[in-house]
Amino acid sequence: MCGIVGYVGERKVEEVLIDGLKRLEYRGYDSCGLALASSEMEIYRKRAKGRIENLASAVSKNPPGLRNSGIAHTRWATHGEPNEDNAHPHSDCSGEIVVVHNGIIENFSQLKEELIAKEHVFSSQTDTEVIAHLIEEKLKEVSKSFGIKHNVLEPVFFEAFRRAVNLLKGSFALGAIWAKTPDMILSARMQSPLVIGAGENENFLSSDVSAFLKYTKKVYFVEDGEIVVLRRGGANFFDLKGKKKAKEISTINWDLSMAEKGGYRHFMLKEIHEQADSVENTMAGRLLPLEENKVFEEIGLKAELAAKISEVQIIACGTAFHAGLAGRYVFEKLGIKTSADLASEFENRAALLDKNTLVIAVSQSGETADTIHAVKMAKRNGNNVLAITNTLGSSITRESDYTFYTHCGPEIGVASTKAFLGQLTAFYMLALNLSKSKGLLKHENLSKYSQELLRLPSLIKDTLGLENKIEKLTEAFSSKEHYLFIARDISYPVALEGALKIKEISYVHAEGYAAGEMKHGPIAIIEQGMPVIAIATSSSQLDLIRGNMEEARARGAELIAVVDEESRKNVKAKHYLEVPLINELFSAAISVIPLQLFAYYIALQRKCDIDKPRNLAKSVTVR
Ligand code: AGP
Repeated sequence: MCGIVGYVGERKVEEVLIDGLKRLEYRGYDSCGLALASSEMEIYRKRAKGRIENLASAVSKNPPGLRNSGIAHTRWATHGEPNEDNAHPHSDCSGEIVVVHNGIIENFSQLKEELIAKEHVFSSQTDTEVIAHLIEEKLKEVSKSFGIKHNVLEPVFFEAFRRAVNLLKGSFALGAIWAKTPDMILSARMQSPLVIGAGENENFLSSDVSAFLKYTKKVYFVEDGEIVVLRRGGANFFDLKGKKKAKEISTINWDLSMAEKGGYRHFMLKEIHEQADSVENTMAGRLLPLEENKVFEEIGLKAELAAKISEVQIIACGTAFHAGLAGRYVFEKLGIKTSADLASEFENRAALLDKNTLVIAVSQSGETADTIHAVKMAKRNGNNVLAITNTLGSSITRESDYTFYTHCGPEIGVASTKAFLGQLTAFYMLALNLSKSKGLLKHENLSKYSQELLRLPSLIKDTLGLENKIEKLTEAFSSKEHYLFIARDISYPVALEGALKIKEISYVHAEGYAAGEMKHGPIAIIEQGMPVIAIATSSSQLDLIRGNMEEARARGAELIAVVDEESRKNVKAKHYLEVPLINELFSAAISVIPLQLFAYYIALQRKCDIDKPRNLAKSVTVR
């Protein structure tokens, strides 16, 4: 996944672009670059390996002077290793056409062969460079039929760009400029996120709104198959045939402070602390009054269709999958048969789904390629798909029949935290709505559960009070290389999530296991002093988890137990992390918080790059 930014307007173009890239660095950060056009009709291009800072210093060493427009890119490599030659923007043979791209051009090898046969010379291993040469080739074609006169340069470039885009197969969000048309940026979208920021006599393009939010909150969400012409005076939208399209403008309600660290050392810690508010936002206006199925009403799921839903099939990746697995337990405890599968392992199941199975796809970014692919398979099978996502206008919303936004605000840290709680909260509300509409839940129970849910934000705040204790506790564990997380039933997904958090930001080995599995193998790995973290909050399985904890302790494990005031009396551990008591159905949203904080402080002690862990990107837009 990569980030692209474009700007046309009166500000210092390179400053706007570099500032925008810094807000997109979480999308990928192994190399970056920018290209600027000027009324002298020449292109200024700078690229750098590594972080945006490297690019900024290259630009300041050789400042570009006055420029009209520009495009920029931060990369997470998919084709070609991360180096300057493979960094975007890429240019054609003349150096006058430059392109930035997020996505994968699936037919780039065939296009590259054809272009090489026409004597195009390539300087990188990327799929993106093909686009620049393709536009160059189309420019020759179009110029022959239109002629190149000063007053037709922009339409000629548009037509060449349009023809080139029509030949691309795969996913792309593009920005392109031509030296001869410095006041215009062309852009196009297919399956990769692209938004246009509409300013006063200036306009922006980006992979997401945080790159230009400080300048404007007015945005256009670009749809698949749309071409955008960006000038100072405005943005125009066209379909792939070149037919002009009307477009609705939206207003983003995030302010920039939400997208910046807000005084925390890392985005991840900020986002952990935002969870009380973000869960409140997820529930706002959707839980009460109970009599109306506010959630189904909002997403447009008709009551008669809801009543016909025979079972639920959840698909997702990573942390979103752990939320989906927790959702499965909630649905089943409320009487609804439910499966949860990794989206990347869904291939064989899609065609076997009963037509009345509701498929729920979970994705914070809404751009995870595996999840979107699984959604398409479910759609092909004739199933209704509901997307749970945090990203307005994301690709998954276009592929699904219904969308439930978690409204958590931007989640910048690669390690997902508040989005996880938002996904859990979404499942809680969906399960209550569905169970009620299928007549499986008495009104008094619905009311009891809803009142309990409304307590979540304050219980989250209370749980965050463990932070100092956890920070201190991690000092004794920061050198550990192996962790085991164990839990049962509705807490089992929390064990998986706790292990993933430590793995992805501290780079140490950690496994989450169903505690009932210990005797079937995992107990063999326990050595003296090995940290075993048990989620042992009040539940129908407390006696069983207590036994598993004893087995681990007897073999030398150093036990850390997540407990509540009730269960603490019934389990023995070396360290206790006591969280507020909440109904078992919703306990995952509380018991995960100490594990998020534990992972954060272990990573801090180990001096890891918490917001941008090695080898990871915020959203995996390739399969
Ligand atoms: C979680 O901390 C990771 N960043 C990763 O597992 C993530 O949850 C997964 O890639 C799914 O992303 P999505 O929710 O944007 O689809």
